[in-house]
Amino acid sequence: MFVSENLSVNAAGHLAVGGVDTVELAKEYGTPLYVMDEQVVRKSLRLFHDSMNKHYGGRGEVHYASKAFSCMEMCRIVASEGDGLDAVSIGELYTAVKAGFPMEKVGFHGNNKTNEELEYAVEVGVGHIIVDNISELHRLEKIAAKKNAQPKIMFRIKPGIDAHTHDFVRTGQIDSKFGFALETGEAFEAVKEAVSCKNVSLFGLHCHIGSQIFDIAPFEEAAKVMLGFIAKIKNELGYEIEGLNLGGGFGIKYVDENDPKPFEVYLEKVSEAVKAECEKLGLKLPKMFIEPGRSIAGPAGITLYTVGARKVIPNIRTYVSVDGGMADNPRYILYGSEYDAVVANKAGEERNEKVTIAGKCCESGDLIGENMPLQHAESGDIIAVCATGAYNYSMSSNYNRLQKPAVVFVNNGKSRIAVKRETLDDIIRNDI
Ligand code: LLP
Repeated sequence: MFVSENLSVNAAGHLAVGGVDTVELAKEYGTPLYVMDEQVVRKSLRLFHDSMNKHYGGRGEVHYASKAFSCMEMCRIVASEGDGLDAVSIGELYTAVKAGFPMEKVGFHGNNKTNEELEYAVEVGVGHIIVDNISELHRLEKIAAKKNAQPKIMFRIKPGIDAHTHDFVRTGQIDSKFGFALETGEAFEAVKEAVSCKNVSLFGLHCHIGSQIFDIAPFEEAAKVMLGFIAKIKNELGYEIEGLNLGGGFGIKYVDENDPKPFEVYLEKVSEAVKAECEKLGLKLPKMFIEPGRSIAGPAGITLYTVGARKVIPNIRTYVSVDGGMADNPRYILYGSEYDAVVANKAGEERNEKVTIAGKCCESGDLIGENMPLQHAESGDIIAVCATGAYNYSMSSNYNRLQKPAVVFVNNGKSRIAVKRETLDDIIRNDI
């Protein structure tokens, strides 16, 4: 009935999440409101790390990609599950540090890290830094020497797999701002240089082939390409790469048509591919890292809005306007992303209308979606947009000087605030 398994209709006919009535949540905390179901986050993390243990003999780590949704409470939950973190900026690192996250389980990413970010990452002792380009390698070497440290690094490699076409393809030379190219020899030259660096320790290779991917084959193919490169490094330089990071990208269900494979199947297939390839190439099994973001945070979240205006344009469409929009969910205006929505206080009724849910920003494209099946929505109703846990709060803005919504976690029938709603004074806090 709903795209996310944790949603149900309670005795009052209201939408419930994690055993909590969403209409009550809207009353208590106001709207727009991000709601995260703690049990869904934990269950998804466990599915990933348990499958890693089962199919890859525990020789791996799950690093939650915190760009999908980062706040201190999320970091604490991930830490309590024993998983690691992928951080992509000094802000995400700082959030993790302040939450008491074990920094040795953090991988630090970024295609254009500043010196300030690299220095901070070395100071707080991140587990490894994923180096994206040669200038970063040089800058990191200097920083490490100055700080008398020897950070572990991985190299981000472009494996030349395009997973976003209908059937994935291998392209000769991919056009991407991320990582070192294999085909041109750029990656190999960088490895040669890194193995002789005194101040960094080349520990692994990393690739990430995209996001919201449903096929498993491109992940298997990427793993094979990476292992081929690891074998070349071993054979030609006599250097053993110990870590293989396969990134994130596992698709989730936003609308009924989406059909993601269970995470366990993904890990089983990829583990098999890695094991078979290592045997073929005579390599030791590398420690495997994965960086799921959307698949951990996405299905755990919903956003609650209050309906304001309803505008029927005869023979064209009906607009149902809500008190949020592109400032709290920019994914429709950016990518045309689809979502499922429910009138929370009429969740037991049929969705017998098709409407456009519009936001409140001064911009025609500010929509949550078009042609969305919905119960008849009127002013004062509460609309829940489903599967908004990833890349909504983390991509939110103050456009039109709107205040960012609060984030609430629900767990077994209880709710608690994790991020406070911004106040009007927050809006002007840096104004002089
Ligand atoms: N690792 C790396 C290096 C990444 O670049 C990403 C996402 C991830 C892991 C996590 O991927 P996930 O499991 O979440 O697919 N804003 C876009 C998504 C951008 C993803 C960027 N990188 C969206 O809203 O769809």
